[in-house]
Amino acid sequence: MSRPIAVVTGGAGFLGSHMVDLLLARGYSVRVMDNLVGGRETNLAHHAKDAALAFEKRDIRSLAPNDALFSSARYVFHFGGIGDIVPSIEHPSEYMSVNAQGTVAVMEAARAPRAKVIYAASSSCYGLAAVPTDENHPIAPQYPYALSKYHGERVVFHWRDVYRLPAVAIRIFNAYGTRSRTSGAYGAVFGVFLRQKLAGKPFTVVGDGTQRRDFLYASDVAEAFLAAAESPMDGEVFNLGAGAPQSVNRLVELLGGEVVHIPKRPGEPDCTWANILKITRILGWKPKIPFEEGVGRILAAIDYWRDAPLWDPESIAKATQSWFDVLAPGERPR
Ligand SMILES: NC(=O)c1ccc[n+]([C@@H]2O[C@H](COP(=O)([O-])OP(=O)(O)OC[C@H]3O[C@@H](n4cnc5c(N)ncnc54)[C@H](O)[C@@H]3O)[C@@H](O)[C@H]2O)c1
Repeated sequence: MSRPIAVVTGGAGFLGSHMVDLLLARGYSVRVMDNLVGGRETNLAHHAKDAALAFEKRDIRSLAPNDALFSSARYVFHFGGIGDIVPSIEHPSEYMSVNAQGTVAVMEAARAPRAKVIYAASSSCYGLAAVPTDENHPIAPQYPYALSKYHGERVVFHWRDVYRLPAVAIRIFNAYGTRSRTSGAYGAVFGVFLRQKLAGKPFTVVGDGTQRRDFLYASDVAEAFLAAAESPMDGEVFNLGAGAPQSVNRLVELLGGEVVHIPKRPGEPDCTWANILKITRILGWKPKIPFEEGVGRILAAIDYWRDAPLWDPESIAKATQSWFDVLAPGERPR
């Protein structure tokens, strides 16, 4: 019997590459498209000899209806997109172009094979949310990245309604794991801290470090996406987190090192916490990797972050200036 075909957009990125690992392990034939603006081909290097994996360096916006890359695809896991708050404030049009209009191209290409689309949505759509946050929480994006991801989600469901394509959106809270992005502007806490640890510099803790994030290990994210694809679910939104928020101070404790405190930023929640009742009940999924184990896996692979930018309080103040200028005029990062 021939292998079922899955397309992974953004498959050379952090979460996309974990998705590829799982799909290959489960016997899928996998086609990755990624323009490598954030991802790296080396994230897939461990599959170089696997004939079941095909890679195309391409922009999702170049997809045509009837695109050969999507032919006979059963599932499309749509992880391709651009992240981060600060660059989205500086370049909002590019964010809308890739994350929203790019999703239109993906949905158009999914029509011919009638593939089921699993969209990597973002919990940032909820804004400064009440916790634990369930799927019916009001939508209130605080910056262009959040809006662009939410528009992408609306596109997915509009194509589902109008063209009757099966689709599910999974709103990811805070994923972490090996291969999390190292490049680009000031971003997620793991990349920043790991590089600082390698350099023997203090961790730049925002505020007093009591803020909590619902960190979920990347392989657990991939398992949730596959469970959603293989289930009969259609037209549903699922929140995805560990359902157990961890403080930044706890992360520091596990990583081990000195800290320096930097100012809190506007529009950032004190706590993210996914209510995961829906996904656990309906898909039978549950997180497998405890936080301590996930952090241990990352520490074992810490060399990956050696090329990442090394941030300190001054460079962070500079890099986040536009964040303050736009979202909290009058307040200064330092
Ligand atoms: N990591 C998280 O905690 C998190 C949370 C919520 C949502 N998400 C969403 O999950 C997806 C994957 O995130 P990630 O953390 O793995 O980030 P990532 O940057 O590592 O992965 C995104 C990938 O998409 C590729 N890409 C970007 N623009 C593209 C384009 N125009 N055409 C083709 N490929 C393109 C990048 O090169 C990269 O490999 C993103 O859509 C993101 O919005 C992630």
